[in-house]
Amino acid sequence: MNQRFSTDILIIGGGAAGLSAALHLASHARVTVIAKGDIGSGSSHWAQGGVAAVTSTEDSEESHIADTLSAGAGLCDRDAVEFTVRNATTAINALVEWGVEFDREDNEYHLTREGGHSFRRILHVADATGKAITTSLTQRVLDHENIQFFNDRLAIDLINRSRLGRYSSRISGAYVLNRSSGHVEVFQARFVILATGGASKVYLYTSNPDSSTGDGIAMAWRSGCRVANLEFNQFHPTCLYHPHAKSFLISEAVRGEGGVLRLRDGRRFMDRFHELGELAPRDIVARAIDHEMKRTGADCVYLDISHRPPEFIRAHFPTIAARCLEFGIDITRDPIPVVPAAHYTCGGVVVDEHGATDVPGLYAIGETSCTGLHGANRLASNSLLECLVYARSAADHIVTQLHQPEERVRIPHWDESQVVDSDEDVVIAHNWDELRRFMWDYVGIVRTTKRLERAQRRLDLLKQEINEYYRHYRVSNDLIELRNLVTIAELIVRCAAARKESRGLHYTLDYPDALSRSEDTILFPGSMEHLNVLRPVG
Ligand code: FAD
Ligand code: SIN
Repeated sequence: MNQRFSTDILIIGGGAAGLSAALHLASHARVTVIAKGDIGSGSSHWAQGGVAAVTSTEDSEESHIADTLSAGAGLCDRDAVEFTVRNATTAINALVEWGVEFDREDNEYHLTREGGHSFRRILHVADATGKAITTSLTQRVLDHENIQFFNDRLAIDLINRSRLGRYSSRISGAYVLNRSSGHVEVFQARFVILATGGASKVYLYTSNPDSSTGDGIAMAWRSGCRVANLEFNQFHPTCLYHPHAKSFLISEAVRGEGGVLRLRDGRRFMDRFHELGELAPRDIVARAIDHEMKRTGADCVYLDISHRPPEFIRAHFPTIAARCLEFGIDITRDPIPVVPAAHYTCGGVVVDEHGATDVPGLYAIGETSCTGLHGANRLASNSLLECLVYARSAADHIVTQLHQPEERVRIPHWDESQVVDSDEDVVIAHNWDELRRFMWDYVGIVRTTKRLERAQRRLDLLKQEINEYYRHYRVSNDLIELRNLVTIAELIVRCAAARKESRGLHYTLDYPDALSRSEDTILFPGSMEHLNVLRPVG
């Protein structure tokens, strides 16, 4: 029998979204947080630039709303944008209360600037804002008597009765792999919050940590939730180009503080692509770099901030300066070699303003969700803000339902006795690699219908192989993530193929213009077959 745990609210994911939701809920109910890894396992820990919020009297919420709508290229949900922007101050105050010390100058917040923002409005802690946030929140969570935190736990699937053929029946927990023991555990809960981050690991080159395999999106999809807008994957223009750097991010704040992009011969090029030059929205900068790299045959372009005083650079970008120095690049003197990399999943699980999904009792917050805030392109530093705002609204919504009587449910156990142990791990690793490579080549920054068709053909082969060979395979970390990545890749390809225009982050040579009317790409459950692996049999 599987080991069982019972709680009121299960939160899957220990990033900014999951941890802040736990803290909002803990005075009302028993909360359990599980995470694949430790504190640094999510993107939140690695966030550099900061959190967008209107705190200066020169700035206005109207301007933040307008910038978000403009970046979103006509697909933002205006209500979601207003809701997020107008709740930003409350979110920042909560962080400060939990111990986050944003940089200040003359007793005011020091605000940095990033692409697409009309004002300096990014609160930050030097260039390691995410680390400051996750460190403070984790400490609070670990200290709270009502919160249990389990790391090294990988959620495999949600438990709701859709397995028996009915979609949208109430959530009652999740099957979870204990990565240390190798056994499957059952976490039973009245409410489940998915806060598993994004899916950028589906691409070969990414700024994201290893956890970003889209698990929450794939699990929600299998449980009967709608997903939307997955064609809009944001590529960050500037990740360090070095064989050992594993796509280390060079923050947009470097350009915000005057950094310029150059070709190998020192010439600048961004002015040819947008009037805002280096501070144009991210999709435009990433596409311009991609274009220049292809045109000149270069492996990278260069980001140069060496014209600013060395003490300014070291004070504002200590993490970036130190990391680059490890690779022999002194950013106070040398231009930094950079390339674009997959960075942020704008689409995700369709939710309302409380983060509620189509499955009763199931919520999705943070990068896993599609709230309507980002539309076709996310404005820089709006995502940490979205994590915090929706964590609170989901928590508030759950609290109003805690008095309702608990339903008794029978949860099928996960029978581990019938699995075949095999030495196929190396093949799973190859499947991973193959998938991420063709996604990069065919479903990347610039797409065509033919490339999407090629990607779908390879996906079909991969699905066939997985169904055939891994059907009774031992539950393993890599197989769980591979199944999710294949699902995510297909959802992305389907969304991309359905969009017959270029808009925001989705650019295709076959339909280079935007249509005059456009809407979200919504995929409905049941419209795609699930892979036939990793199922409970009890
Ligand atoms: P994450 O922080 O990614 O956390 C996901 C959590 O879920 C992790 O704990 C992980 O272990 C866990 N998890 C995943 N799958 C499972 C599973 N199956 N079972 C159990 N646990 C699971 N945004 C900004 O607004 N400002 C910035 O300055 C900024 N800089 C960034 C810099 C980098 C390098 C990156 C990668 C992103 C940056 N972003 C920034 C984006 C932002 O950091 C993320 O969108 C945001 O942190 C996502 O938070 P989250 O809580 O939704 O997920
Ligand atoms: C960065 O610092 O450039 C990342 C900001 C973001 O992704 O919002």
